[in-house]
Amino acid sequence: MASVDVPVALLGYGTVGSAVSRLLVESADDIERATGHRLRVVRALVRDPEKERAFPADPGVLTTDIADIRDDPSIAVVAEVMGGIEPTGDYVLALLAAGKPVVSANKQLIARRGAELFGAASAAGVQLRFEASVCAAIPVIKVLREALVVTTVHRILGIVNGTTNFILTEMEKGSGYDEALAEAQRQGFAEADPTEDVSGADAAAKMAILATVAFGSRVTLDDVEYEGIESITPLHVAAAREMGMAVRLVGAASLVGGKLDVRVHPALVDRRHPLAAVEGAFNAVMLQGDAIREITLEGPGAGGIETASAVVADMVSVIGTTGTGFLQNDACWRELEPLEPGRLRSPFYVRLDVEDRAGVLAHVALRLATHGVSIGRLVQHQDNGSATLHIVTHEAPAGDVDAALEEIGGLEESRSAPSALPVISDRGVPGLGWA
Ligand SMILES: NC(=O)c1ccc[n+]([C@@H]2O[C@H](COP(=O)([O-])OP(=O)(O)OC[C@H]3O[C@@H](n4cnc5c(N)ncnc54)[C@H](OP(=O)(O)O)[C@@H]3O)[C@@H](O)[C@H]2O)c1
Repeated sequence: MASVDVPVALLGYGTVGSAVSRLLVESADDIERATGHRLRVVRALVRDPEKERAFPADPGVLTTDIADIRDDPSIAVVAEVMGGIEPTGDYVLALLAAGKPVVSANKQLIARRGAELFGAASAAGVQLRFEASVCAAIPVIKVLREALVVTTVHRILGIVNGTTNFILTEMEKGSGYDEALAEAQRQGFAEADPTEDVSGADAAAKMAILATVAFGSRVTLDDVEYEGIESITPLHVAAAREMGMAVRLVGAASLVGGKLDVRVHPALVDRRHPLAAVEGAFNAVMLQGDAIREITLEGPGAGGIETASAVVADMVSVIGTTGTGFLQNDACWRELEPLEPGRLRSPFYVRLDVEDRAGVLAHVALRLATHGVSIGRLVQHQDNGSATLHIVTHEAPAGDVDAALEEIGGLEESRSAPSALPVISDRGVPGLGWA
C-alpha cells in the first residue's frame, strides 16, 4: 500500500507542540503502519520564531501568521497546543470554518467555549477532538465516547490535577503546605504561579469536560462548584491518616435522579479506595455505571511527551486508517522472540526453613550475593531449634535467584527446598519486569 503524505499544522510549538513534532518524526513508521499515512508538520504558529526550541522545527515551518495555516488547503488537521482562551478560540473557530479538523489540548478553552466551538465544528462538518485536554496521556475521552458508547455512566470520580495530588502526598510524608508546594515547583510539577491548580480551577475545567462527554449535556466551568487545597493543613492529613484515610482533591460528577452535580473539593478517601493509592503527580479517573460497575484509569496527567501522545492519537483518529491498519485488525506486524527463561527481573519473596544455629544467615546471604542477589528485607521466626527466614530480595533476574536457591537448598542447615515468589510492589516503572 502506498503511503500518503499528510501535511499537518500546529498552533503553538512550546512544551507540548515540540513534543508533538518530535513524536510525529520519531513514530512516523508506527503511524504509517497504523494509518497508511505519514503526518508531516508543515506549519506551526508561534509568537517568536527565533526562540530556541526543544525539538527544532524544519526551516520555514514556524510562522506568526494564522493565515498561513488557515488558508493552506493542503493542511489536513491542526493541533491546537498554544493554550489560553484568546486569541486561541477565534483561531480555532477560523480553522473549523475553513474546513480543517482540529485537535486541542486546551481544557480551559474547551470547558469555557465548548458550545460555540463544537457548534462550529458540526456546522463545518469537521471533527474537534480534545483527548489531551483531560488527564494528558490517560485516554479517558476515548473510553467514554467509544468503548462505553452503550453504557450509562452515572458517576465519575477523579484525581485530575497532578500538582495538588503531589502536594497532598508530600504532606502525607510530613511536609507543610508551603514546603510541599515549593517541592512541587522545584520538581516542575507546579507553575511559578500555582493558583489555577491549587484553587481547584484546573480540575474543575477537566471535570466540566468529562461530565459533558459522559452525560451528553453541556457543562461549563461556571457550572462546577470548586474548592482547592489552600486550606488543607498537616492536621487534616494527620487526622485522615489516623482514621485510615487520605486527603485527596477529588472531582466528582454525578447524575442523581436525572439531575447533574459536578464539583471539585478536598475529600477524605478511604485507604482501600483506588483513588487513595494515586500518589505524586499521577491522575486517575474512576467511571461508574450499570453495565461496567467500575473502571479506573490511572496514569500521568501532564508532561510534554505524555500530552503529545494523546494529541497525536487524536490526529491519527482524524486522519483515519486505510487498508489493514491496526484499527481494523489485530495489529501483528512483527515476530518477537520469547525472553530467555530466567532473564525476567523482579524482586522476590523467598522462604527458607533452616536449622537455628550460628552462621546460617551468613551462609544464605553469601549464596545469594554470589549470584548478585541482594536482600531488601528479612524477617526471622524461631521455633524449637529451627528457623524460618522470610526474605524479600532487591530486583534480580529470576534465573539468578533460582540458582542461588538451589545452592541454599543443598546447604546442610536447610530443612526443605526453598522457593521464590515474585513481589509486585512497584508502579510499573520502566525496567521492572513483573509490573
Ligand atoms: N505542558 C503540559 O504538561 C500540558 C499538559 C496537558 C495540557 N497542556 C495544554 O497544552 C497547551 C500548551 O501547553 P504548553 O505547556 O506546551 O505551553 P507553552 O510551552 O507555553 O507553549 C505555548 C506555545 O504557543 C505559542 N503561543 C502562545 N500564545 C500565542 C499567540 N498569541 N500567538 C502565537 N503563538 C502563541 C508559544 O509561542 P512561543 O514559543 O513563540 O512563545 C508556544 O510555542 C495548553 O493549553 C496546556 O493547558 C499542557
